[in-house]
Amino acid sequence: MYTTILTNLENGIFQITINRPDKLNALNVAVFADLNGALDEVYSNAAIQSVLITGAGPKAFVAGADISEFNNLDKAGIMHLSKAGQDTFFRIENSPKPIIACVNGFALGGGCELAMSCHFRIAAENAKFGQPEVNLGLIPGYGGTQRLVQLIGKGRAMELLMTANMIDAATALQYGLVNHVVPADQLIGKAFEILSLIQTKAPIAVAQCIEAANAVFDETKNGYAVEVAGFGKSFDTADRIEGTTAFLEKRKAVFTGK
Ligand code: COA
Repeated sequence: MYTTILTNLENGIFQITINRPDKLNALNVAVFADLNGALDEVYSNAAIQSVLITGAGPKAFVAGADISEFNNLDKAGIMHLSKAGQDTFFRIENSPKPIIACVNGFALGGGCELAMSCHFRIAAENAKFGQPEVNLGLIPGYGGTQRLVQLIGKGRAMELLMTANMIDAATALQYGLVNHVVPADQLIGKAFEILSLIQTKAPIAVAQCIEAANAVFDETKNGYAVEVAGFGKSFDTADRIEGTTAFLEKRKAVFTGK
């Protein structure tokens, strides 16, 4: 069904693997089409409870947008590509189900932007992050100028954007760009551990956490109002009754997502 990604559903965790290892998993038009197809599944398939995104092969998560497609485009075409990429990454960011990036090597340009659109990131020790677009006479086009500032602060982001320097996993951890750094062979296991834990929580409450936290960076929204609405939505669920009752009965809650 897909030609540039692999998907697998195990224990409610949907793994999306960008699969062009000979091109370091660079994001071309076909990858974006497949990613959007996989996101349709994420949004519509109730069996998918959470998602992890990674790259095929030992070397790269994603080494960027596919540079070989750039020179066929004019200004209008490249701006359309940028907007379409942003829209795909908004679908990741605004997914009601948790999506985490497992960064297993180079996360450059669009790869860093893809990782940053996920709800949080785990890195293998060999991970490398950067926005090298100025080397190409370009700037990031898939939300990188915005999310890098959000995640690591303006000063650090400005330096990375303007120098095109790469940072290693330890620096990314220090900057808060990633939450955990683990040996490469433990990367997927670590993601499964965290996502399995999240899957034991009330799904509607988890979705409301995502929406409220994302509202911080959405100037069309009042985050505090989103929080009040989310508090109400999560309160008005069978899972809230189960959660509070289980606490009072000193037992573990069993949530149904209702
Ligand atoms: N777009 C298209 N192809 C890419 C790519 C990208 N962003 N990144 C890597 N590739 C391709 C290379 O062209 C090469 O293909 P080939 O074997 O057909 O020549 C293959 O992937 C392997 O990459 P290579 O450069 O040989 O690996 P390396 O280990 O020497 O270098 C990088 C790794 C990541 C440092 C280097 O590939 C690189 O700088 N990539 C571009 C990063 C970038 O600028 N991203 C932002 C794009 S907006």
